[in-house]
Parts: sequence; C-alpha cells; structure tokens
Amino acid sequence: MESKDCSSNFACALEYQTGIGNHFSSEAIVGALPQGQNSPLICPFGLYAEQISGTSFTSPRKLNQRRHVPFTYFFCPKILLLVCVGVVLVSIFSKNWLYRIKPSVTHEPFRPRIPRHEMLVSEFNQSNSSATPTQLRWKPVEIPEAPTDFIDGLYTICGAGSSYLRHGFAIHMYTANKSMENSAFCNADGDFLIVPQKGSLWITTECGRLQVCPGEIVILPQGFRFAVDLPDGPSRGYIAEIFGTHLQLPDLGPIGANGLAAPRDFLVPVAWYEDGSCPGYTIVQKYGGELFTAKQDFSPFNVVAWHGNYVPYKAGIFSYDLSKFCPYNTVLMDHSDPSINTVLTAPTDKPGVALLDFVIFPPRWLVAEHTFRPPYYHRNCMTEFMGLIYGGYEAKADGFHPGGASLHSCMTPHGPDTKTYEATIALGNEAGPHRIADTMAFMFESCLIPRVCPWALESPFMDHDYYQCWIGLKSHFSGLSINEDSRDLQNGKPIERGRPKKYWGEVIRRDMEQLQLTEDMTLDRKVWKTRITAED
Ligand SMILES: [Fe+2]
Repeated sequence: MESKDCSSNFACALEYQTGIGNHFSSEAIVGALPQGQNSPLICPFGLYAEQISGTSFTSPRKLNQRRHVPFTYFFCPKILLLVCVGVVLVSIFSKNWLYRIKPSVTHEPFRPRIPRHEMLVSEFNQSNSSATPTQLRWKPVEIPEAPTDFIDGLYTICGAGSSYLRHGFAIHMYTANKSMENSAFCNADGDFLIVPQKGSLWITTECGRLQVCPGEIVILPQGFRFAVDLPDGPSRGYIAEIFGTHLQLPDLGPIGANGLAAPRDFLVPVAWYEDGSCPGYTIVQKYGGELFTAKQDFSPFNVVAWHGNYVPYKAGIFSYDLSKFCPYNTVLMDHSDPSINTVLTAPTDKPGVALLDFVIFPPRWLVAEHTFRPPYYHRNCMTEFMGLIYGGYEAKADGFHPGGASLHSCMTPHGPDTKTYEATIALGNEAGPHRIADTMAFMFESCLIPRVCPWALESPFMDHDYYQCWIGLKSHFSGLSINEDSRDLQNGKPIERGRPKKYWGEVIRRDMEQLQLTEDMTLDRKVWKTRITAED
C-alpha cells in the first residue's frame, strides 16, 4: 500500500497497490470480496458480480495478463479445489471481477450524443484524414477559455488502422479547464495512455481513484468507466490510444533482469465506492470514434470490491526519471537507439515490432567520446510522434516547446536542427561529461503509418516554418579526406589525433634541409657516409 502526501482530500485519501500485470484484489469493506468462487449465488453484502474482460476468453495464458502469480499459491492446501478449477477455466480467471452495488447494465439506451463530437477518429481513411510525409510540428495549443471538460477537450491528431478491426492506434491531445460533472467516460475502442503536460488529473475509476500529475502517466484500459477532475484548472496533455492490444513492459534483452521501468513502481488503485442516488447521471461512451450517452440514476463508481489483472495502472514518469526509471545509455561512443528508453510497449504479432512504444527522454548523463551526442540524422521505418512535458529537447535548440508536438512519419528524414548541430560541432571533443537536466520529452512510436486529421493540419498552432530549422545546415565537405588535409571539424581548426601524420615527400625534404643536401648529393655515396649517421 502507498499513500500520497499532499494537501487535498482526494489525494490524501489515496492508496495504491504496486506492480504491473499482477493479479490484484481489493475490498473497500472487509469481507466484500467473495472467497473460493467468482460468482456466488448471493455475493457478500448483496453485491452484484460483474466481469470485465480485456482479452478474449480463449487467449493463451501468457497473453491473458495474468502473470507473476506466486507459485506457492497453487499448492496452498486450503485452496486446492479452487486451483484445480482455475487450471481448467483459466480464461475466466484472467479478467476482472467487480462486486458492485448495481450492475453497469442498469441504464437507459445509448443514444448519439448531442452535440456530436466532430474531432474524434478511430478509423483512419481517406474520408477523414490525410497522408503526408512532411515533417510536422505544432506549437503548444492554447487552453480554451470557454468551459471545457476532458471529453469535450479531446481531439484526435493522427492515427492508423481501425478500432473496429482491433488493430491500430490514435494519438489525441486534450485541453480542458473544468471537471466532468455528473458523468463518466468509457472508451470502448481501446486503451488510453494519458500523458498530462499541464495540470494534475484526479481520475475516479471503477477500481478506485488515482492522482496523476505532469511527469506521470496513467493507463485506462478499454471499457473502464472513469471521470476526470481538474484540481489545477487549465490542463493539457497527450494521449495514445491502442486498438486491439495492451501496453506491457518491454523485454530487457542483454540488459538483464533490472533496469528501465521497474514493475514495483507501477501503482494500482484500491477499491473505492460511492453509494446513493445520482439523478441524471450520464455515461458517455466512445464507440467507433463516436460518442453515445446513456442515463442512469446512480454513480458507476459503486464497486465495493474487485479482483483481477485488468486494472487501470499508473507509472510515475517523473519519479522514474529521477529515481525510479533507470536509464541505460552509451558509456563510450555513439548514440544509442531511442528504444533503450522504452517504458511500455504494445507489441504486434511480429517479434520486436511495436504497434506502439512509449519512450521517454529523461535527465541523464552524456559521456560518449568523439561522438556526435544528439540524435543522429535518420529516416525510420517507424513513425515518431514526440511531445515535451517540460524543459527542452536536446535535438531542438528552438521551436519545440512544452505542450508542443512533432510528427515524423515513416521514412521522413529528421534530426537535430542547425543550431544544435553547429553548437555540438563547435564544442568538439571538449564537451566532457554533461548532464541533461530538467527535461522530460517522450515519443509515441509505431510501425503503422499515420494519417493526420484535417483540424490538426489546419491548426493555427501548426509551425509552418518547421522545415527552416534544417535549411541552414551547410556543407562541411572539403573534397579531401581527413588524412589528406589533416583537418578535423573542431572549431574549424586542424587538430592532432594520436600519432602525428607523416608524408614521405615532406619527411625527405625536411631531412635534406637539416643535412644540407642537394638532390645531386643524395646520389653520391661518399656524402652519405660522412653526413648521415644512424640513430636508434
Ligand atoms: Fe527520430
């Protein structure tokens, strides 16, 4: 259990469980969680049992999000019968069981929301979005002055694939200034990974409550109902939405068993519920990118106990950065690929190919020798959407501000801007160890090629001069190899590397001058014998 130390009642009351992918359980009232079975005839305290699944019933066990169950659990004599059943009905045990005051089905029919939300897309095609290989960058979007809650403040920037076909992703942003009132949001299309950039979020879910501050992230799995309060008022942030799969920790490969995001640093809420009448309560459901509403007379946050492994979880990126996330990087030369800083990944069926990676660029030391330390120039088969939570980004000296964003699509070239390149070259090998501090940039990276929504392309915050940041890159090509002109690019001056370079013609001319020899004399063996002496 973990408590937040803060001044608000909401946050002070928060407790968390820790881990990712675990099988969690929590009860707000002792004894509310049924023991020995999931769906008893009569649940404790007269609660209704309800299951929510995030994977198909028959998904393989390793995909069923039930991992890290203590092995000894299976051999506890008191629950041997339960375990035997569990082996057969593993898929049933792999979801979440909610024990609630009234089941979520208790509502009036869904109807299209009026007014419609025109800026949400979950199926990207030629009718609603455009393909462009151009490097795109947006300035920070202003937060509206008109009352706007989290739902109305959402808008899609780009994406690929389809929520209907259960394959793809969407990238959204939100700008909002007021809390949701007497309503809850439910995303039937996919998982939300929310990256607040400005303003904290108080999120109430069916599994409990979370506080998420800039520098942290929260994942809200498909289908969970949640409400967003804005304790700080004006708020802005980024969202990646995943269709058809879920985010998980990346494999660590040769790094070994430790490093990057540690499982124990992911926080899961504990059961919390509210009871009583809530006339006119509205469930807003995103379904196929469209919004539908349904009325009910009670709060959906009426789950008294739950267990399972399909839960909203949060990870403190800010804490990861400074004390929890354990970055790995080059310690001798060259710039590591950004995958070294992957926090979470949503895999595809192809090994090593991500539907979406969430990568951060946290404070860290740069120590590489004789290396161009900023990101190298590149064209990538993956598509990269970047955002900046605070501070600056090492590859862009100007123009990329907190709250802004950039999009570099498949095979579109990009890299450091002119100012960054020239400043790096000017420093040369004198840079020494350098700590990148007070910054937190991130990247959503996908193997799919996104289409961009028209309102994003036509946004008044589009940086139409983005390309100018590279136009100033000049040729440093001299036509001569480094050896021929003995020149390096340190301050444009020749520098020595290792042993001084010698050229035979130059050496012979110098020796002839020292020995006061002419070319004719070099042919006279008598002169050799009198003037040339051998040295060790
Ligand atoms: Fe890149």
